[in-house]
Amino acid sequence: MQFNRKHLLGLEELSSDEIRMILDTAVPFKEISERQIKKVPVLRGKTIVNLFFEPSTRTRISFEFAEKRLSADTVNVNVSTSSVSKGETLVDMARNLEAMKIDMVVIRHAASGAPAFLAQRIDSNVINAGDGWHEHPTQGLLDMLTIRDHFGKLDGLKVAIVGDVIHSRVARSNIWGLQKMGAQVGVCGPPTLVPASLKELGVKIYSRIEDVLSEVDVVNVLRIQLERMHSNMFPSLGEYNRLYGISTARLEAAGRDVLILHPGPMNRGVEIDSDVADGEHQVILEQVTNGVAVRMAVLFLLAGGKQAGAAEATEMRGE
Ligand code: CP
Repeated sequence: MQFNRKHLLGLEELSSDEIRMILDTAVPFKEISERQIKKVPVLRGKTIVNLFFEPSTRTRISFEFAEKRLSADTVNVNVSTSSVSKGETLVDMARNLEAMKIDMVVIRHAASGAPAFLAQRIDSNVINAGDGWHEHPTQGLLDMLTIRDHFGKLDGLKVAIVGDVIHSRVARSNIWGLQKMGAQVGVCGPPTLVPASLKELGVKIYSRIEDVLSEVDVVNVLRIQLERMHSNMFPSLGEYNRLYGISTARLEAAGRDVLILHPGPMNRGVEIDSDVADGEHQVILEQVTNGVAVRMAVLFLLAGGKQAGAAEATEMRGE
């Protein structure tokens, strides 16, 4: 089966078959990162530019590892020392990069829609690495792969997204992706951080974290994004932790095995307590490991690769 998309801009526009294809393609790619020589020639000769206009640890480094493990040539643009600081526009910058014969652009930008805007104006494949409050599709995919690894399925699971939903592109990609894959999605947090309009998408809105923990299979804990809050949206971080923080005491009181995810970076002691962040319920570093495989799968499929069949498996083995 062929993946017939030129860009990955969000999970809203993907079908369940396309999401399943990316997740299934990521599975054999996981093994490559376990090898002593972590490299296959799948994207040999392809040139990929990573354009991060916002800070990132996991996504930027994970894309770079994915590109290098597939043998692509990669360039990380340091936006702060580029000619953007002299007023060059995003499109002019990208067209100049294309004049140097690149194949793909991975972009993170503070403006929602910046990757889609670019995709309409350049010939290269564009991958959204997080745009404003809109979507973070590879994070949604790696979250789904991690949940599927644990439960063997997504269909029928109850997943809650807890915290700063309103500012979260991770929440939007999770909601689109998980619902398409048959999961029931809920959200919980202070009313100022949870848009009531999510009900129209079929998302259940919880007001009490205790109700979440007594009902759901998975909690995806979101970071409180203080850098995107221009007014006080709740009284204090201490009060947020008291009302919504995920703690061992709360998990024990629920008396159920709830899988805990967090996209990172974490505010320990605010949305998640350290004993949970390092404890037995969480799969936070598995998410990070799966991120490399998911990004390898996305790069491979956008470059025209087919879902791993015999020929691709041979190529992945480097034979
Ligand atoms: N999860 C995530 O996007 O992390 P970074 O901001 O470090 O890339």
